Amino acid sequence: MTRDIADHLLFETSTETANKVGGIYSVLKSKAPVTIKQYGPYNYHLLGPLNRNTYEMEVDVLPFDDVDTEGDIDTDSDSATPYEITTIKRALLKMQERGVKIVYGKWLIDGSPRVILFDIDDPQLNAQFLNEWKKDLWEKCGIPSPENDFETNRAIMLGYLVSWFLGELCYINKKNAIVAHFHEWLAAVGCPVLRARKIDCCTIFTTHATLLGRYLCAGKDKDGNDIDFYNNLQFFDCDEEAGKRGIYHRYCIERAAAHTCDVFTTVSDITALEAEHLLKRKPDGILPNGLNVTKFQAVHEFQNLHLKNKLKINDFVKGHFLGHLDTIDFNNILYIFIAGRYEFKNKGVDMFIESLARLNYKLQCAGSKITVVAFIIMPAENNSYNLQTLQNQAYVRSLEAHIKMVCTNLEAQLLDYALVKHSVPQELSSILSTTDQISLKKKIFKISPSKTILPSITTHNIPSPNDPILSTIRKVKLFNNDYDRVKIIFHPEFLNSQNPILPLEYEEFVRGCHLGVFPSYYEPWGYTPAECTVMGIPSITTNLSGFGAYMEDLIDKEQSSMYGIYVVDRRMKNGEESIEQLVDYMEDFCSKTTRQRINQRNRCERLSDLLDWKRMGLEYVKARNLALKRAYPDVFAQYLQADDQYGTGTPEIERVYKVGKPFSVPGSPRASTNGSQTVLMTPGDLGTIQDANYVDDYFHLSMGGEEEAESSKQESDGK
Ligand code: UDP
Ligand code: G6P
Ligand code: GLC
Repeated sequence: MTRDIADHLLFETSTETANKVGGIYSVLKSKAPVTIKQYGPYNYHLLGPLNRNTYEMEVDVLPFDDVDTEGDIDTDSDSATPYEITTIKRALLKMQERGVKIVYGKWLIDGSPRVILFDIDDPQLNAQFLNEWKKDLWEKCGIPSPENDFETNRAIMLGYLVSWFLGELCYINKKNAIVAHFHEWLAAVGCPVLRARKIDCCTIFTTHATLLGRYLCAGKDKDGNDIDFYNNLQFFDCDEEAGKRGIYHRYCIERAAAHTCDVFTTVSDITALEAEHLLKRKPDGILPNGLNVTKFQAVHEFQNLHLKNKLKINDFVKGHFLGHLDTIDFNNILYIFIAGRYEFKNKGVDMFIESLARLNYKLQCAGSKITVVAFIIMPAENNSYNLQTLQNQAYVRSLEAHIKMVCTNLEAQLLDYALVKHSVPQELSSILSTTDQISLKKKIFKISPSKTILPSITTHNIPSPNDPILSTIRKVKLFNNDYDRVKIIFHPEFLNSQNPILPLEYEEFVRGCHLGVFPSYYEPWGYTPAECTVMGIPSITTNLSGFGAYMEDLIDKEQSSMYGIYVVDRRMKNGEESIEQLVDYMEDFCSKTTRQRINQRNRCERLSDLLDWKRMGLEYVKARNLALKRAYPDVFAQYLQADDQYGTGTPEIERVYKVGKPFSVPGSPRASTNGSQTVLMTPGDLGTIQDANYVDDYFHLSMGGEEEAESSKQESDGK
């Protein structure tokens, strides 16, 4: 049967579709606008499990029972419901008839892509199908699944529901080719199942980490030592290691997905190497993560946002350090932070805390007047906010409100005074009414914060006596003493604007900070430093993170700190040396003047084009084309012949330039001798492992950005 490969349908499946967990949510959400631009509103859908608690905030629910379930379907694209949508809805209705609960709608994000969410936790559905599907997975694919692994059971439910849906769709829709793209093992059971059932579609599997990689990096060897992961990649006995950690069946799913998909990809070179050794298939390419970069009309706008949000963080800090504010100079304060899922070692929190202690010591020895407030934003088990934190914030807010009220009275009194006395009052008491004086005094003395109680390390009650972050902070004795130049605050929850103590969205918080510190040991990509960059906030990352290595490839090593991209070497240096390098970077940052920080932020923000999906998205296009080519080689070849527009030229591989020195800093010897230039690059030049293998496969590479490029060209040409 011939399917139309150019007008194909794309389905991306992930457990983070309309469901915020970590970085994959950021991939799907930020990529939506470019994907919709390429596919239009009907040919692109995201699939995932239904999160009953949050879906109403994420999705605008649409009906799917508004199509006829029998008879021919009009293939005319101008008809009221396009053919593609009618066929999708019919497939969903077939499943609904058999008891599957489905939410169909538009994801409430930029681009408004359509989503299909399956209720995989429905007890009835589980009772009806789970065991049957587990048996099938064992018999057809040889993948075992134990009784009580909740996560694996969910992965199986999702995989089989997605395969069921795509099977129905392939039967109903005979026109369009189908590309099914799966993200991470949790969503990838569909890969082996579709292959076993010989469903007429092509598949891509993108792993955003490997299970074994995460476990091995976070764990210890049999002697209790840290595992030297990267130097031993080729030596691990994967089956045995997975078995020892009780994840053999999960590992089987991941490895099966990697081997049964048409195209296997990952997010960075370092994870590609890891996947090759641990999953035993070399990825076909890298799909580096991009961001949806918003450019402000006025260039200084993001600087204004920094100041605005910094003042909000100041408000929080005033409450948190109540009773000790005489030791903090708000004109000399720096906010640094680490954020993400709580993976103590993998995210480099161990290194972060150790470096903070050393920085504290160095700043103390130097007699520095700076205060560094270091935030750790990582969700951990907690019993809500602690009393001290809530009380302090409430006190500051109520005093603030009271002072605002007094000031209104003061305005009128000041005006009267000026008119009558024709001078400026020397004392506040001469214009402040006695009532206001008394009420203000009462407010101020209502809570007299004790100097002897130190500002708390955590904002919440953390029940675990062995929490690794708190234990390490205790070990290095960073207790927020008045004499400490580095203070530390552990906020064990993600941020949002409803937060009673720090009412900021994560993005606002990042903008208000001065430096993000992400010294990860295991980090396939790492969105957090990338997000800092596009907001113009400098960050420290490592060459073991996909993002860090990617930026290191793009920017001259000697120049990258000028751009606010500090890359700690955790690959070639030992732990102690890496910590020292991290301390040096932080010390260097602390020594900057306000002007230098402003300049650095400007340069940093200018790098954001390097991370824009408009460029990064091309790798996804290549991956889909390769999948179509592998699944439909004959149709693909005919297509290339018929459509000479795409068939003739192989795109030129552009020369790789490095980003050179910023114009605002003096030239370094290296930059002046190697003639490096500041140009934009395509990520594929650096990121794609096997470009050479399928460089001829490129067709239909459009990301829909030509009109934009053309119009800006015309603008610059003055047309
Ligand atoms: N994040 C968030 N709220 C927070 C802290 C972090 O939404 O308070 C997001 C952040 O924007 C980023 C994601 O969590 O997109 C973490 O992604 P990353 O790739 O850095 O790590 P992962 O958790 O996927 O390993
Ligand atoms: C932004 C604002 C400036 C402000 C500066 C503070 O750049 O536009 O008006 O002075 O932030 O920077 P700092 O690094 O001290 O927070
Ligand atoms: C994973 C990785 C993270 C990456 C994200 C998106 O969660 O841990 O490094 O940024 O996926 O690809």
